[in-house]
Amino acid sequence: MSFTRRAFCAGLAGVPLARAAWAQEEAPRLTARAATVQLAPEGYPATEVWSYDGQIPGPQIRAPQGSRLSRRLVNALEVPTTVHWHGIRIDNAMDGVAGLTQDAVPSGGRFDYAFDLPDAGTFWYHAHTNSMEQVARGLSGALIVEESMPPDVDRDEVLMLDDWLLDPETGRFAGDFESPMMRSHAGRMGNLTGINGRYDFSLTAQQNERLRLRLINSANARIFVLRLEGMTGWTVALDGMPLARPEPVTAEIVLAPAQRVDLIVDVTAEQGAPAALLSQAEDDSWQALAEVTVTGQNSRAARGAPAPLPPNPRMEVPGVTGAQVRAMRMEGGAMRGMASGRFEGQDMNFQQLVQRGQFWALAGQVGRGDAPFARYARGETARIRLANDTAFPHAMHLHGMHFRKVLANGRQGPMRDTLLIMPQDSAEIAFVADNPGKWLLHCHMLGHAASGMTNWIEVA
Ligand code: C2O
Ligand code: CU
Repeated sequence: MSFTRRAFCAGLAGVPLARAAWAQEEAPRLTARAATVQLAPEGYPATEVWSYDGQIPGPQIRAPQGSRLSRRLVNALEVPTTVHWHGIRIDNAMDGVAGLTQDAVPSGGRFDYAFDLPDAGTFWYHAHTNSMEQVARGLSGALIVEESMPPDVDRDEVLMLDDWLLDPETGRFAGDFESPMMRSHAGRMGNLTGINGRYDFSLTAQQNERLRLRLINSANARIFVLRLEGMTGWTVALDGMPLARPEPVTAEIVLAPAQRVDLIVDVTAEQGAPAALLSQAEDDSWQALAEVTVTGQNSRAARGAPAPLPPNPRMEVPGVTGAQVRAMRMEGGAMRGMASGRFEGQDMNFQQLVQRGQFWALAGQVGRGDAPFARYARGETARIRLANDTAFPHAMHLHGMHFRKVLANGRQGPMRDTLLIMPQDSAEIAFVADNPGKWLLHCHMLGHAASGMTNWIEVA
């Protein structure tokens, strides 16, 4: 068989053209796949993880504010998955919640995500299909949206804080992801903590160097309590949203699961002197989560307090006083339990719920029900009172919109998307329901979310 010259030429001309057109359409890929990564210290076995692009954490995505981000999720796992872009005030269809905003992407399937980035700040992305297991196995990464005028810093470092529960003998993820013990208590805590996939993460810096540290808590359940050593710092943003005024770091930084904090820090330690990001361990001792090795001196002298970051659009929450307050009681869990809850359309007592692996309720609803907790007209100011009647802290996260805490004196707290509520405490949040769609409101201790602590709202 031979090609005529004509057919051969047509073929040659046709192929590259078709390829070019296709390449233009296709977004960069983000492949969810198994990989082997050394999480435990050298000498221990490596760990089989589920990853984005073979890395722990997934690739750092950076894009300018106001741009459009697109990624083709390719699912090379053996289980269905989706990607949630945590903290982005996103088009609802791109929110990545399997069963609510899209169907889960089957093994071998793909899904094109494309959405605008209205806000600059520190965000992240993670699996939102069986997220309890998928995030624990490694499916998360940082999403950084850059200001057009970045602050005056010498370096910008992203620090993804995580923990892993590993079997030291095999290197495998230990324990049962369905474990009722973990779900009904504080959640799945790791036995190894680390940053950016490394238990021994470290930085080198010079004295007087000014760093922007973007801290992201991607752990399933761990609340990190942090301190700076050999550095002076200011908090400039929470959950991606700039503070009106940078706040000097004078106390511990409490970072609940899914929360972010942007710090601007000046290295004050001299060469050889200790500098670190310290984390409080279970025994209350302070351990270096990130060691900072100080090598020499930056030519610049110590600088004064940093200027605030430029504000993002739509950061005001007007009309809070007149807004209807809806109460969301948080109940259940070990030690306290609850009388009853509604699960899959049926009222059940606590025993019946426990038999189904359910331990928690939000406003009497156990897990996402057919009806939303509340429906809002577009543009309406929403106000929700979250009361924690459980024996555990919970990190409550709202999708699609950021909120502010309503303070006693009628003032408002910083704008954020995840709020830690301690046992027996309560908080009122308010937000402008300006993003149409179906949005989850759930605990970001992912074992809690998987065993009842998930509800949702609808904005018309
Ligand atoms: Cu970080 Cu429901 O998400
Ligand atoms: Cu919780």
